[in-house]
Amino acid sequence: MTPAEIGATHAPGHAPHGDRAHAHAEEYQPVFTGAARAELDALLTRYPTRMAALLPALWIVQRERGWVSEGAMTEVAHVLELTPAYVKGVVTFYTMYHQHPVGRYFVQVCTTSPCGACGAEDVVRAFLEHTGTRELGVTSPDGKFTVIEVECLGACGFATPVMVNDEFHESVTADRVQDILSKLE
Ligand code: FES
Repeated sequence: MTPAEIGATHAPGHAPHGDRAHAHAEEYQPVFTGAARAELDALLTRYPTRMAALLPALWIVQRERGWVSEGAMTEVAHVLELTPAYVKGVVTFYTMYHQHPVGRYFVQVCTTSPCGACGAEDVVRAFLEHTGTRELGVTSPDGKFTVIEVECLGACGFATPVMVNDEFHESVTADRVQDILSKLE
């Protein structure tokens, strides 16, 4: 099956990287072409089987598209010689893979009990207010932000820890939220 056939039969479409919060149904464009394909091929040389490269292959998809669509799962299955059902099982198991479009900045706030006791809920409220998302898991109207609560980020001594994409912020208080957001483009 060619990538074009994958899209024709399975893909609900994807949004380009800069517009991922506004995905529309359109013809699926394969991820693994050009530099991304070369990156995958290089990756495959480091693993004993194609299946073993599944997690990093999915990371490439998420980096390129911002999320992992059904069409992308089918494409990954094709290039790694797996079934789409197997790939979907892995994607849905790990919460760090986005199964729908999210904002350009994905904000994760730890609200597990130790951080909750130190004001994490206030931090969440401040992010929802200052990003304009208003609700957890909802993307802001400008497509810039999605805010979620997460379980322990492993920094309980630095409540409240926050991840903005790959960037880690420790000891965040509600007062610091505006400052953190103002440093984002
Ligand atoms: S409980 Fe928040 S980082 Fe551990």
